[in-house]
Amino acid sequence: MTGADVFVLAGPPGSGKGTQAKLLAPKLRVPHISLGDLLREAVRNKTNVGEVAKGYLDAGKLVPDQVAIDVAEEAVNKKECNNGFVIDGFPRTVEQAKLFDGLIGKLGFNLKKVLYIDISLEEILRRLTGRRSCSKCGAVYHVQFNPPKCEDICDNCGGPLRQRHDDTAEVIKVRYEVYKEQTYPMMEYYRKTGKLARIDGSKPVNEVFKEVSKAVAS
Ligand code: AP5
Repeated sequence: MTGADVFVLAGPPGSGKGTQAKLLAPKLRVPHISLGDLLREAVRNKTNVGEVAKGYLDAGKLVPDQVAIDVAEEAVNKKECNNGFVIDGFPRTVEQAKLFDGLIGKLGFNLKKVLYIDISLEEILRRLTGRRSCSKCGAVYHVQFNPPKCEDICDNCGGPLRQRHDDTAEVIKVRYEVYKEQTYPMMEYYRKTGKLARIDGSKPVNEVFKEVSKAVAS
């Protein structure tokens, strides 16, 4: 894995980190790691991590840094990641960023870019209240911007589409405040290292992806 490239997707809730990561990972032929998905899976499976994480996820707050780094470390240590990976939702505090930099340095990866997808709170509310996710394969839809062919049924696998527990207007506002206070300072941390690329996330998915691809190639 020496020198294999790592790309981080960062940004406020609903900015499209997951959507872009799902496009970028196959293009680069590397795995996509989503910390949010791993935590939700741990909650569903009632693991020790899941028991700790549940209350934080439901409230829209961040799980403790050490829990997040432990989950991320287990994921990036898998051999599928040997040729690099795309990770979304991690790191999301300055402390996590420092721990992550140490971890990938120790494992011999190269943090190539932090792709910071930026959008307004108004757009975040529109996107998250309309988001639906497949409970079987994880595909993500939007009732208006990217609707499935049949209402509430996944186009890919026929699984039922669900709204996330934390996608209520009330919890979205908490997540946004948490983002401003705890995650936004991390952008400054990475800007200083020259690794940050800001992407305008307000455009349609394919246009955002063009910008992401340009930043990845630069
Ligand atoms: P996580 O699952 O990472 O949630 P989030 O950061 O709030 O981000 P989202 O998944 O809601 O949004 P996204 O940016 O991926 O947008 P998406 O592509 O789906 O984390 C959940 C929770 O886990 C946290 O609150 C915390 O408790 C915990 N956690 C996770 N990581 C942690 C960490 N590192 N430390 C501590 N705690 C952690 O798009 C949203 C919608 O918009 C979709 O419907 C999509 O179809 C649509 N859409 C996307 N792009 C566009 C576009 N360009 N135009 C129109 N619609 C679009």
